[in-house]
Amino acid sequence: MSINIDKVRSIIGDIAGMIEEKKQYLSDLDQAIGDGDHGFNMARGFEVVMQKLKEAPGADIGDVLKTTAMALISNVGGASGPLYGSLFLKAAGLAKGLTEIDLAGFVPIFKEGILGVQARGKAELGDKTMIDVLLPALESLEKDSAAGLSGKEAFANAEKIAASCMEKTKDILAKKGRASYLGERSIGHIDPGATSSYLMISIINKALA
Ligand SMILES: Nc1ncnc2c1ncn2[C@@H]1O[C@H](COP(=O)(O)OP(=O)(O)OP(=O)(O)O)[C@@H](O)[C@H]1O
Ligand SMILES: [Mg+2]
Repeated sequence: MSINIDKVRSIIGDIAGMIEEKKQYLSDLDQAIGDGDHGFNMARGFEVVMQKLKEAPGADIGDVLKTTAMALISNVGGASGPLYGSLFLKAAGLAKGLTEIDLAGFVPIFKEGILGVQARGKAELGDKTMIDVLLPALESLEKDSAAGLSGKEAFANAEKIAASCMEKTKDILAKKGRASYLGERSIGHIDPGATSSYLMISIINKALA
């Protein structure tokens, strides 16, 4: 697997398209355990991301990720804007100067992004958040990268793990964010942020397949 800067831009474009397509569904999930804005927040943010990337396409992958981060931080309200913003911003720091990455290069960049989400939101595995999808996906990619699998194979595995971890958020009680105010009543609903994280991983998998 090798992802160059054009591929990174096209993957972000695919993510923006997917979020637009699924914005009602993501907001419906958030309606059940939050305030019903997750999909609409994300769609507004990614619309600005695409505008900004058009204005400033960037010279390396770090630039593209940083532009994405800043647009999300400024235009996605609520918890998920700063959280996804941190993911892309921290990832951008490690991707600075790079115009091409392979699986072994992707893993530490993704890890740095997830650590950024955790530094900001303090969520651990099992709190019913996007972390419940992001961390297992990272672990799967790390393991497969170390075992010498191709990027294509590794992302196919990560996508499956992300899907099942997203589903599992249905059975757990929310300990972070607005959903945590519901206590036991948060059980029985899939977490919207875990779903948007899964969808992003599935887009990367599709782009590599
Ligand atoms: N502390 C956190 N760490 C990681 N993810 C979180 C945290 N708090 C919330 N989330 C994620 O954000 C999603 C909600 O995003 P949304 O765009 O709806 O923001 P929001 O309405 O402000 O959310 P919230 O009400 O949870 O603050 C949740 O489904 C969850 O996955
Ligand atoms: Mg919300």
